[in-house]
Amino acid sequence: MFDLLVKNANLPDGTRGVDIACAGGTIRAVERGIGAEAARVIDASGRLVTPPFVDPHFHMDAALSLGRPRMNVSGTLLEGIALWGELKRIQTVDEIVERALAYCDIAVSMGIGAVRSHVDTCDDSLTGVQALLEVRGKVRDYLDLQLVAFPQDGVFRDPTAMENTVRALDMGVDVVGGIPHFERSMADGAASVRALCEIAAERGLMVDMHCDESDDPMSRHVETLAYETQRLGLQGRVAGSHLTSMHSMDNYYVSKLIALMAESELRVIPNPLINIMLQGRHDSYPKRRGQTRVRELRDAGMLVGFGSDCVRDPWYSLGRADMLDVAAMGLHVGQLSSREDMRWCFDAVTVNSAAIMGLENYGLSVGCEANFVLLQAPGTIEAIRLRATRLAVVRKGKVIAETPASVTTLSLHHRPAVLDPGA
Ligand code: FE2
Repeated sequence: MFDLLVKNANLPDGTRGVDIACAGGTIRAVERGIGAEAARVIDASGRLVTPPFVDPHFHMDAALSLGRPRMNVSGTLLEGIALWGELKRIQTVDEIVERALAYCDIAVSMGIGAVRSHVDTCDDSLTGVQALLEVRGKVRDYLDLQLVAFPQDGVFRDPTAMENTVRALDMGVDVVGGIPHFERSMADGAASVRALCEIAAERGLMVDMHCDESDDPMSRHVETLAYETQRLGLQGRVAGSHLTSMHSMDNYYVSKLIALMAESELRVIPNPLINIMLQGRHDSYPKRRGQTRVRELRDAGMLVGFGSDCVRDPWYSLGRADMLDVAAMGLHVGQLSSREDMRWCFDAVTVNSAAIMGLENYGLSVGCEANFVLLQAPGTIEAIRLRATRLAVVRKGKVIAETPASVTTLSLHHRPAVLDPGA
């Protein structure tokens, strides 16, 4: 007797028509024609069951704050940072907790099972850190929340940021962050990478830096990040988020850089929705796309995961926690249009991002935690194309969110009466 049995599911690897049986919060069997009884049975009817979506880059302390205290009129990254500075001075722990929990509800409904959120450490009261540590505990049963200590105003540029970043880590924040391109000089940027990587090495932590989120082709802090990763033996534990300056770098330089990054097993986290919106703002025409070199980094063997970055905050007014939207934008901007490339874009918001976060027991194999999502689409490419409805979200073998199928009833002569886009 199982707790949950999903019948006739397709899997992201192309396997079709299997049953998934769950008991005690884990996956017990994945095979055709499981005949056993279960407390609950879901007929997937040949639709896709995927491990949960994973968002490897987000700012939960800012999410859903749109309009408070005012709108970002220019739409630029820099006005967003200035506006966030205004909001930080007035927002309370309770306010951040309330917004973050509301965001987590949306994320779960959209099939997200894990989020890596940066949390600003540039305020002496560490309001955001207090709030998101509380949220991490509150959502633990239904969402894995990993926190990055993020000195938004520059760990050297802000006079107390280093002390506060270390305090945040002492309080239990998981990952060391940074923003070298926002320090006062290239030299300070490089020094910040070195200092923060040393802290991570001493504490046995992972690193995830906002790195070179700029259109300046000379913003080359990723080189230092790769170098320090090797020097300190942090291979596989360091991620470069955004890396947008790579879009504009000299090709000869990049040919050396990518090899160095691959040697360091650097993880790469582009944020397609946000960077297609924010980059190129100083360009007239042609306008640069500003997405890092996703195809080349992937082909060099690096793990690449797409992040959503922002939802209704000082930097981005839109977003709905839809990682399929993120995958679709990354696909378009990166011109990743072959069948293989499109399937890879689905991996970039699921398995790749799970590996970057170091999630354990993730996947659809026997023995994995029974976390998965049933989508109204037969496969991964169709899921991206349709931004497929999350029909059921399962956590530890229990259905925690359900959304009715998106079906349209047509009233046209000589045409089918019901249109199911995901059939
Ligand atoms: Fe970010």
